[in-house]
Amino acid sequence: MVFRNGSTAAGANPLDVSMRIEMAPLQGLTGHVFREVYARHFVGVDHSYCPFVRLRAGQLLARDKRELAAGLVMGDGFTPQIIAASPAEASSLCGLLVESGHRRVNLNLGCPFPMETKRKKGAGLLPYPEEVEKLLETLCRFEPALKVSVKTRLGLEDDSEFSALVPIFNAFPLSAIIIHPRTAKQMYKGTVAWDVFGEQGRKLTSPVIANGDIATIEDAHRVREAFPWIAGLMIGRGLLRDPFLPAAIKGLDPPSSRRQVLGHFHDDLVEGYSEAGMSPGHIVDKMRGLWTYLVHNFPDAEKLTKRFKKVRDMDKYQELVGALFR
Ligand SMILES: Cc1cc2nc3c(=O)[nH]c(=O)nc-3n(C[C@H](O)[C@H](O)[C@H](O)COP(=O)(O)O)c2cc1C
Repeated sequence: MVFRNGSTAAGANPLDVSMRIEMAPLQGLTGHVFREVYARHFVGVDHSYCPFVRLRAGQLLARDKRELAAGLVMGDGFTPQIIAASPAEASSLCGLLVESGHRRVNLNLGCPFPMETKRKKGAGLLPYPEEVEKLLETLCRFEPALKVSVKTRLGLEDDSEFSALVPIFNAFPLSAIIIHPRTAKQMYKGTVAWDVFGEQGRKLTSPVIANGDIATIEDAHRVREAFPWIAGLMIGRGLLRDPFLPAAIKGLDPPSSRRQVLGHFHDDLVEGYSEAGMSPGHIVDKMRGLWTYLVHNFPDAEKLTKRFKKVRDMDKYQELVGALFR
C-alpha cells in the first residue's frame, strides 16, 4: 500500500484473529442472498451492512423492503444502511427499522453518485456540517432502540471538508464511524488519503473503522500497524476478488482446495438467487457483476472477463463456469 506521505508501515502479527473485519455494503452485490451464502462458505467476517435503502415518494422501494425483511430472518446481525437528505426522511426510515425489529442503523455519507449527491444525499451532505448535525440529531433520538453509526468519505470535492465534520461526529454517541478516505469526486479511483485519515481519524471519539483498497493481507496489516487506534477494517472489493481474504488476514488456515470452495459458493449463490425468485437472465446479469471481481482467482483474468461480458443466457453461462470449476 502506498501512503500519500511516502511513509510505510512495518508488517504485523500474522495471527491477529482479534482484528475486527466488516464486509462493506456494495449495492447490487452484497445483498442478503450474497451475505447469507458467503457466511456459509467463508469465515473471518465479523459484521456486515446491507447496501443502502431509501424512500421514494415516502415509501421504501419493494426491493429494499425485501432486503430488510430477509436480512432480519437471516439473523446475521447485519446493520441496515439508510441514505437520506432530510431529518424527516431519516426519521421515517428509522421508524420503519424500529417497527420491523432492527436494532442498528448506518447513515450513508459516502455515496459519490451525482444522482444522490445532487439531492444532498450520501457524500452530497459532507460540505454541510450543520445538515449532517441535524440528521445525526434525528437518528440519535432513536437511541437506545437503534445503535447509530455512519459511513463517510473525507469530502465531496476536497478532503479538507472533513475537519469541520469532526466536532459534529464527536457530539454524538456513534457506535462506529467507517471512513473511506477518498473524496466523492475521486469515485473509487486515485490515491486513498491515509495521511488525512490518520490526522483526522485520531481526533474522533467514536470507534473508527478503516475502509478502502484493502486487497491483500499486507494491506490490512499495514493499515492496522499505521493506525493502532482503529477499531477494525472494512473490506469491499478486496473481499469480492478474494473471498478468503478476511480469514487470511486473521491467519486462519486456508482450505485444502480454494477452487472447490469457490465452486460450491458459486453454485449455492446461483441457487440462492433462483430461490429468491430471480429469472435466469437476471441471475446471469447479477453473477456477471460478481465475476468482474472473481476472475482474478483464475489464470488469464483479462480473457475471462471478455468471455463473461458476452454471456447472456444461463446455459452458456453454466458452460463457461462449469469449465472453470471442473
Ligand atoms: C459497486 C459498488 C457499490 C457500492 N455500494 C455502496 C453502498 O450501498 N453503501 C455504501 O456505503 N458504500 C457502497 N460502496 C462503497 C463500498 O462500501 C466501499 O466503501 C468502497 O468500495 C471502498 O472499499 P473497498 O476498496 O474495500 O471496496 C459501493 C462500492 C461499489 C464499488
